[in-house]
Amino acid sequence: MTARTKVKQALETGKAGSTILVKGWARTVRNSKEVTFISLNDGSCLSGIQVVVEPDLANYEVITGIGTGSALAVTGLLQESPAAGQALELKAQQIEVVGGADQEYPMQKKRHTFEYLRTIAHLRVRSNTFGAVFRVRSALAQEVHRFFAERGFLYVHTPIITGNDCEGAGELFRVTTLDLAHPPLVDGAIDFSRDFFATATGLTVSGQLEGELFAQAFSDIYTFGPTFRAENSNTARHAAEFWMIEPEMAFADLADDADLAEAFFKRLCRFALDNCGEDMNFFNTQIDKGLIQRIEAVAQASFARMDYGEAIERLKKAPVSFQFPVEWGLDLQSEHERYLTEQVVGGPVFIINYPKDIKAFYMRQNDDGKTVAAMDLLVPKVGEIIGGSQREERLELLEQRMLETGIAPESLSWYLDTRRWGSTPHAGFGLGFERLIMYLTGMENIRDVIPFPRTPRHAEF
Ligand code: 4AD
Ligand code: MG
Repeated sequence: MTARTKVKQALETGKAGSTILVKGWARTVRNSKEVTFISLNDGSCLSGIQVVVEPDLANYEVITGIGTGSALAVTGLLQESPAAGQALELKAQQIEVVGGADQEYPMQKKRHTFEYLRTIAHLRVRSNTFGAVFRVRSALAQEVHRFFAERGFLYVHTPIITGNDCEGAGELFRVTTLDLAHPPLVDGAIDFSRDFFATATGLTVSGQLEGELFAQAFSDIYTFGPTFRAENSNTARHAAEFWMIEPEMAFADLADDADLAEAFFKRLCRFALDNCGEDMNFFNTQIDKGLIQRIEAVAQASFARMDYGEAIERLKKAPVSFQFPVEWGLDLQSEHERYLTEQVVGGPVFIINYPKDIKAFYMRQNDDGKTVAAMDLLVPKVGEIIGGSQREERLELLEQRMLETGIAPESLSWYLDTRRWGSTPHAGFGLGFERLIMYLTGMENIRDVIPFPRTPRHAEF
């Protein structure tokens, strides 16, 4: 029995004259008088292999009647193709219908909207666009690990169930086994001491705090895992479940942090261009014209760094009217971020030193008493893609910030311990993996770059 050949391998390195076995799903079936053409795709690459079926095939009648979406195993002879745009085609000698599909199959050839395809997320992966998105996503995830492995970063699996709300934004999804209809009460409040973990817990919003503990032993670490935020904002760039990459370095400051973020981001751009060529060309022609040129420019650029204070000045002078107010002390909205990166800088920019009142408790206070050593990387079309900071390593100042922001220091005693013994200046950041994939593919909605999106009122599949 012939071993299976993946379509990618057949098209890239197959030899005319050899007999091979391919297995996949029929994307299109075209019947003409004397011959039937089937485009067979197995997900290994964007292209399908063209299967040529002639009437001498034993089950020719069956094959001419199969529908789009059918699963087939085809044994045939690789031969040079007379058709334009493909070097090789497969002259079928034997075709087994592994799993048929009828006319009800929702992914017929005509173009569907992304909105509609979200309702059939179990089938959309068999389309060109989603095939390309999830191949690029997989390849990039592997490159993330290579990047950090090469630099000697330890990969740590931080917990998913946790009692701490790292960002302090109150977006923790609850995890409980209490009977919600009859929860145990003390003084009118729910008694979490009788819950599974004997304390209130939720799904992590960030692996950072535990990552910091590991950095204080292994120097350079990263996490790459799912994070969850009960953020009730229905935007094209927020998901309730998303993946984040969070490196953390001991003996490092904000400048080191930005250097790492820049090298990391450029490396991922370079990798997509050099290793996902067929899919990237597809995005460049079908989804976002100019995509490749833009990513190429970023892969070579030197990223700008701008103080938050200067960003506010630039926004105030902008000859456009924003929906949200611009004032020192207010957070930047998406419209402001995009104006800064698209109009002011014309490329990626780190905004640094934000007012402390709009940032999380753990960021290091600057000497001005007003700002913290924070950095956000903004990129065209997406806005914020990375958020990071140098951490407050001084025990008293950290405790003071916790009290100011309403966090009981006792609740994070383990976190404070790292400031008690062997504290070091340290810094890290978080890259939203879906935002990276949006940026690299030109896809405009986060729901279209994660396999099964979780957003307000949607948790299907
Ligand atoms: O800026 P954020 O909230 O930073 C942190 O969580 C820090 N603890 C990271 C760190 O320093 N280790 O989130 C980091 C990034 C954002 O820049 C964004 O790309 C992404 O995570 N992100 C989201 N992506 C999709 N959906 C959401 N709801 C997101 N919230 C944040
Ligand atoms: Mg942020």
